[in-house]
Amino acid sequence: MSQICTSSNYTMKPIITFSCILLFFTTISARSFSDYITPNFTASYLEFIDNFGTFLFSHNRTFKAAIFNPGGQQTSFYLCVIHAASNTIIWSGNRDAPISDSGKMLLSFKGITILDEHGNTKWSTPSLKSQVNRLQLTEMGNLVLLDKSNGSLWESFQNPTDTIVIGQRLPVGASLSSAASNSDLSKGNYKLTITSSDAVLQWYGQTYWKLSTDTRVYKNSNDMLEYMAINNTGFYLFGDGGTVFQLGLPLANFRIAKLGTSGQFIVNSFSGTNNLKQEFVGPDDGCQTPLACGRAGLCTENTVSSSPVCSCPPNFHVGSGTFGGCEPSNGSYSLPLACKNSSAFSFLNIGYVEYFGNFYSDPVLYKVNLSACQSLCSSNCSCLGIFYKSTSGSCYMIENELGSIQSSNGGDERDILGFIKAITVASTTSSNDGNDDKENSQNGEFPVAVAVLLPIIGFIILMALIFLVWRRLTLMSKMQEVKLGKNSPSSGDLDAFYIPGLPARFDYEELEEATENFKTLIGSGGFGTVYKGVLPDKSVVAVKKIGNIGIQGKKDFCTEIAVIGNIHHVNLVKLKGFCAQGRHRLLVYEYMNRGSLDRNLFGGEPVLEWQERFDVALGTARGLAYLHSGCVQKIIHCDIKPENILLQDQFQAKISDFGLSKLLSAEQSGLFTTMRGTRGYLAPEWLTNSAITEKTDVYSFGMVLLELVSGRKNCYYRSRSHSMDDSNSGGGHSSTSSTTGLVYFPLFALEMHEQRSYLELADSRLEGRVTCEEVEKLVRIALCCAHEEPALRPNMVTVVGMLEGGTPLPHPRIESLNFLRFYGRRYTEASTIAEENEYGSVMLQQARSSTTSMPSDSSTRGFSYMSSQNISGPR
Ligand SMILES: *[C@@H]1O[C@H](CO)[C@@H](O)[C@H](O)[C@H]1NC(C)=O
Ligand SMILES: *[C@@H]1O[C@H](CO)[C@@H](O)[C@H](O)[C@H]1NC(C)=O
Ligand SMILES: *[C@@H]1O[C@H](CO)[C@@H](O)[C@H](O)[C@H]1NC(C)=O
Ligand SMILES: *[C@@H]1O[C@H](CO)[C@@H](O)[C@H](O)[C@H]1NC(C)=O
Ligand SMILES: *[C@@H]1O[C@H](CO)[C@@H](O)[C@H](O)[C@H]1NC(C)=O
Repeated sequence: MSQICTSSNYTMKPIITFSCILLFFTTISARSFSDYITPNFTASYLEFIDNFGTFLFSHNRTFKAAIFNPGGQQTSFYLCVIHAASNTIIWSGNRDAPISDSGKMLLSFKGITILDEHGNTKWSTPSLKSQVNRLQLTEMGNLVLLDKSNGSLWESFQNPTDTIVIGQRLPVGASLSSAASNSDLSKGNYKLTITSSDAVLQWYGQTYWKLSTDTRVYKNSNDMLEYMAINNTGFYLFGDGGTVFQLGLPLANFRIAKLGTSGQFIVNSFSGTNNLKQEFVGPDDGCQTPLACGRAGLCTENTVSSSPVCSCPPNFHVGSGTFGGCEPSNGSYSLPLACKNSSAFSFLNIGYVEYFGNFYSDPVLYKVNLSACQSLCSSNCSCLGIFYKSTSGSCYMIENELGSIQSSNGGDERDILGFIKAITVASTTSSNDGNDDKENSQNGEFPVAVAVLLPIIGFIILMALIFLVWRRLTLMSKMQEVKLGKNSPSSGDLDAFYIPGLPARFDYEELEEATENFKTLIGSGGFGTVYKGVLPDKSVVAVKKIGNIGIQGKKDFCTEIAVIGNIHHVNLVKLKGFCAQGRHRLLVYEYMNRGSLDRNLFGGEPVLEWQERFDVALGTARGLAYLHSGCVQKIIHCDIKPENILLQDQFQAKISDFGLSKLLSAEQSGLFTTMRGTRGYLAPEWLTNSAITEKTDVYSFGMVLLELVSGRKNCYYRSRSHSMDDSNSGGGHSSTSSTTGLVYFPLFALEMHEQRSYLELADSRLEGRVTCEEVEKLVRIALCCAHEEPALRPNMVTVVGMLEGGTPLPHPRIESLNFLRFYGRRYTEASTIAEENEYGSVMLQQARSSTTSMPSDSSTRGFSYMSSQNISGPR
């Protein structure tokens, strides 16, 4: 309630302001009513103070041009183009040369000139090829100088500052530069450049983000890029033949792409009522921006809020300056500026860390030892520090400017050792930091003042001990799983955060150790590979590595993990912990000793007995019913199939992989649906692109029921040599496909249901050890679950009731099952042109092309647009 009030209050202000402006213009100022001005026009803030400096509006007043003082300060005024409704500056002329409130903008025949209060030129448009006739502000926000014949002489769109808007193009080679701050529009140090293959963010020549590495953005082709643009429905990089990179976004009237003051590239939209809404941020990992924690600050990702947590690396303490970074703890050192250091220097060891630039730059040397790496830096005055990777002997160099350091969370990055160059400022006392390399002996700083050092070391050790004890206690109390293993100061702060329900967090090394370096592969699927592991407390676990579907932001990942980790049900595989370090994303599940249902059901001996199958059906139904209606957040599994039903002793069935569909980006969920398309558990709505609901899971569950009955996959190829084995169910094959031996079992089940010959359907390997009523029960429930119309399918709670016997058995609706005949025919046709394992995908293609409402070209895109949010969300 209070939120609603706040937001309505907020919108009041612009409305009032806007009506004041309207009033002002209609009553007083007639000269600015049109969307252009003509030469010998001047404007200063003071002249237009009633209007907050605004002297020109676009035709529908969407944009305005003003002499404006951003951030409420009173000293720096800029010629700006502003989006009126959201009060967003989209362009500024004199960004590096602000004027005072009496400074002027002059429009002359030669162009625009910005003059200070003494009449000195501070900024002007370049010399133009003919005389200016008018200055116009277009409805898109483009400030244009026109000549007599309305030809464009100069446009603000072609001279972007830090923002582009809809209708504007940022061509290859052009760049956006951040503003220094929200009140100081001068050019900051971050730069977004469009290259022929990418959009790249740089800081003092150090690359810290590339669009192409962002998994949220969809890449359509390898064409050379021509320009970047945004429109009402997305953000794009265009090449010769159309979009090369695209990011689909919700429909919005106004959208900007801006390089923010923190160095992040941000796409914002404005829908007319609220503030700007952030839609895309790159990099979204807060520690990946160069000055996330100031110069030499140590940045640790925060899983709770997106803002990172800052501290200082070893041998450094919080700086005294306004800069906010870190300084050497030893007062006799200070950080150098590139090529300004004349005095002696040392390398301060900052431990195992990462640096944003290392992700995108190559080492300057390979296969060298540490001293070779250091001496290269020693001899190069632009070098401010090095990172040395001992496993490969790679030497990385920081040049020109030193940014923030990232804490190394382990994994591959664990072996990168960082050293920061520090110059000696005080010559009176001998200095050291206890971590100096041998290099320093040449610089005459070697004598070690043991008397000074010992108390410091003692103190550090004491603090470390206190910290370790505290951390252990927090962990024990907050997490159910007692996490064992080594504690390192660098990974310590990460564990200080707590999302309710977040299961235990593991270090990558711990999992590496538990799985003996991922030795025993026990499964693989769309989400990655699964390995068997043993934790230090001797519990056996299954470790799922989900690296191969792309890297998701840690915060999003953890939010989803907290949801999954909060779900406890006897028929759902328990998530015991996770690991989100660097680029690693792993999930630790309880280990299910009998493996997956498909291995037990379709595989060899012993045959899964009828009672066990019935129990599996009931257990799976209960697990699914819980996911759909038992927990706080409704979860649609989206991938119910025998591979995802795991068995434990006594054939207790548990569903795995639930909740994972939400971990996929929109692009990846395309892969996800395609993946499922080849399986044969595909509900009709996947093909027709209609909404995916929990009834989609019900359909897949019905398919699993049929497989439990038959003991084989729903689509199988009956080879001639096995036809004797199939004598029990052989009669039905003639109705499906007698010539090819291909069986589409759901259709066969429908036909047998119509003839009420349910026993025909039972697995022949059971040799009659079945309960006739239960076979009929499973088949009838399965057919009801398979109804084409999702609304006609029972929900899982009802299914559980039917299986248990409390709810009467339903009667399948034949009219909603006739589509199975179509599917069956498709399979038969497909079988003449495809191998067995391709039936599903062939059918998928055919079904797609037969859905005439969908252009075949966009059909795959339509699938990929089905975001993971659509797949499951709050009830
Ligand atoms: C504008 O000023 C210039 C010189 O300052 C003058 O030559 C020109 O006639 C003026 N034009 C108008 C329309 O006043
Ligand atoms: C330039 O455009 C304006 C309207 O935008 C129009 O009134 C004027 O006639 C045009 N001038 C020429 C020379 O086309
Ligand atoms: C935005 O641009 C894309 C790519 O050119 C295009 O497919 C889409 O239709 C555009 N959207 C609008 C609303 O114009
Ligand atoms: C490091 O390598 C250089 C040659 O690249 C060699 O001269 C030097 O002795 C090595 N130093 C150590 C400590 O191994
Ligand atoms: C320092 O290193 C950079 C990059 O390795 C190189 O371009 C530059 O020339 C070097 N400067 C000196 C003085 O060696």
